[in-house]
Amino acid sequence: MPDTPSPSPAANALWGGRFAAGPAAIMQEINASIGFDQRMWRQDIAGSRAHAAMLAAQGIITEADRDAILDGLAQVAADIESGAFTFATEREDIHMNVEARLIELAGDPGRRLHTGRSRNDQVALDVRLWVRDAIDALDVQSADCMRALVAQAEAHAATPMPGFTHLQIAQPITFGHHMLAFVEMLARDRGRFADCRARLNECPLGAAALAGTSFPIDRHATAAALGFDRPMANSLDAVSARDYAIEFMAAAATCAANLSRLAEEIVIWMSAPWRFVTLSDAFTTGSSIMPQKRNPDAAELVRAKTGRINGNLVALLTVMKGLPLTYGKDMQEDKEPIFDTADSLALCLAATAGMVRDLRPNVEAMRRWAGEGFATATDLADWLVRVLGLPFRTAHHVTGRLVAAAEAKGTDLAGLTVAEMQAVEPRITADVYSVLTVEASLASRVSYGGTAPAQVAAQAQAWRERLG
Ligand code: ARG
Repeated sequence: MPDTPSPSPAANALWGGRFAAGPAAIMQEINASIGFDQRMWRQDIAGSRAHAAMLAAQGIITEADRDAILDGLAQVAADIESGAFTFATEREDIHMNVEARLIELAGDPGRRLHTGRSRNDQVALDVRLWVRDAIDALDVQSADCMRALVAQAEAHAATPMPGFTHLQIAQPITFGHHMLAFVEMLARDRGRFADCRARLNECPLGAAALAGTSFPIDRHATAAALGFDRPMANSLDAVSARDYAIEFMAAAATCAANLSRLAEEIVIWMSAPWRFVTLSDAFTTGSSIMPQKRNPDAAELVRAKTGRINGNLVALLTVMKGLPLTYGKDMQEDKEPIFDTADSLALCLAATAGMVRDLRPNVEAMRRWAGEGFATATDLADWLVRVLGLPFRTAHHVTGRLVAAAEAKGTDLAGLTVAEMQAVEPRITADVYSVLTVEASLASRVSYGGTAPAQVAAQAQAWRERLG
């Protein structure tokens, strides 16, 4: 910073009554939020419209003042929309930028807008409206992503792939079943956002600075006009609560974590030793040095964006920790993490939906690996239980010895002769081969929620109908 003090600009026109001079340059820089909170202009103007209409309905301002305010706000909205509006750092934030311009346009009626209102309830309202809009947009995107997954599930309800635990081949499953696992996750993610939306849908407007107001305002009217279920019951809570934003970011972090798991799988599946899926040119990039490369960058970035989304949650949790009631300027730091979370998750959902629509499973490779690694060993153990009446724990042990025998012979389970199997368990018959194929294994998994192709097809169809 230069040693010479910056010349004092004029005191703030909106709150500078008791100030002889303006803020230091660095004060303005740390204080101003207009650089990022201008994104809330629609919410800010919607709140002011509802407030002005209510003030007139209650006889607190005249109808002529209200009309002048509404006309002025319409002009401000049109100018912001067209790019003609100049956002001024001296006017600190979106609330004062809109109000100061309104006063320039409308004069004294504009000066009456802030009656019975404070920037504290105003910002509380704007952020709440913004988060509510973000939740609604993310819900539409999540549903689209689910539709993409369901379409793959319907196409590949019977396509075998290896199912993994510990990333070791465990049992055969179908690719459709795997897709539907993510549909279930996204359905829960939407449920978390819906819960958050229901809890946040109370209106803080009218709490004023913190204690309410002496004007005969009608908080129920403004709450209803802005689509809220009711006004918030405690004015102190109304201006200081940001837990709904924390909840929003926690739901987003959970959703991002779920998406990152699919993204990671796509990265693995794309790798040459696996080649379970291919992505087209539309969702891959090349290498500047290795001409043969096809990199799953979109999947990697979905995986990585989870980091910033988690960071945003921790950032706001940390800002709010120990913050005394009611409003503190600290809370201005809520916006960038909230916006970044909404933007990042929107990108992740769009990229995931795009990749899922784009990806082509490599049916042969997945079929081949579905039968590797003694993947039908559990089917063999189940056969020993069902046909020979062995207790499961005993059957598990017998199967383990058969796996060891196959491994020693360098074959899969079906490569053992009946005689070789009978050396381990004399009552085994040739009927056992009927359960050792991948297809038999898949078809047998008919328990509710299991991977049998008929069940997967039915679940996929049910989801398609639910999603419309
Ligand atoms: N820009 C501020 C924020 O985002 C608005 C509220 C300012 N209130 C105040 N009393 N200075 O939190």
